[in-house]
Amino acid sequence: MEDGTEINLMTEFCRDLPLSVICAMLGLPERDHDRFKNWLGRLTDTADVWAIIRAIPGLVRVVRHLRRVSRPGGGALPDGLIAALRDVETDGQKLSEDELVSMIFLLFGAGQETTTHLISGGLLALLSHDEQRRKLQADPSLMPTCVEECLRHVSPVQMTKPRFAIRDMVWQGEQFRRGDMFAGMLAAANCDPSKFEDPHRFDIARHPNPHLSFGTGVHFCLGFQLARAEAAIAFERIFTRFPDLRLSVDARQIKWRKRLGIRALVQLPILLR
Ligand code: HEM
Repeated sequence: MEDGTEINLMTEFCRDLPLSVICAMLGLPERDHDRFKNWLGRLTDTADVWAIIRAIPGLVRVVRHLRRVSRPGGGALPDGLIAALRDVETDGQKLSEDELVSMIFLLFGAGQETTTHLISGGLLALLSHDEQRRKLQADPSLMPTCVEECLRHVSPVQMTKPRFAIRDMVWQGEQFRRGDMFAGMLAAANCDPSKFEDPHRFDIARHPNPHLSFGTGVHFCLGFQLARAEAAIAFERIFTRFPDLRLSVDARQIKWRKRLGIRALVQLPILLR
């Protein structure tokens, strides 16, 4: 990335960083990165059923590739998580190939899409709130609270995965029948005025910040510390290298994808300075 150029930071930075990190953690060689990007490229506007259908061939290729590399001698690096999960044993039992591939696919998917949107949405928030961005640049010790506020403000994962009532019950004043499906609306909880003072204000020094962006309970996000670290490193690096970077269009022109459950930008056009 060169000083003075106009780029779409979404593709050039926000996607690349989490993809490289999760590939490195899993032990997937660098030559795989571009292939993954191509295969996953269509996984964008999944609010539309045709878009989901168009994304399927790419997903099938990813799963097929992960299955291939997860086999012994299949190409996964020896010091990565794929090799570690393949070898791990509990009470004399190992993961079956299907269990291994689904776990790797989960980590691969959960580990990049979400973090990409935390970094891009967080950068958009900082670049469209100039006083907050200056505050961070003047005092880098605000980075931890800044990342938490970006998590709350963007809420990259808008709702939990489905939950099912295991019996008939009344909950929050509503009647549920056994088997009924429901999901927790994390983005709504993150704007709850009884928990957050002035919830629609973006405030990088907000503390405490009891947001639910990583969920809660037994399914609380496994990668929360990794995601926090990636966002902090991404913000620190980009503002150090390009201290005067700015949006190259009016913030109101920036569009969000029509995508159920994930808050994702279409593009992040930036002038590097
Ligand atoms: C900003 C980034 C991230 C956000 C906002 C996020 C959000 C979430 C949320 C809300 C859940 C709970 C879903 C539910 O209750 O139904 C979850 C679960 C999970 N996350 Fe993340 N996540 C992020 C990054 C990551 C990363 C980097 C990884 C892995 C490297 C990861 C791995 C997982 C896994 C494996 C689960 C399932 C845990 C379980 O069901 O026990 N996540 N995440």
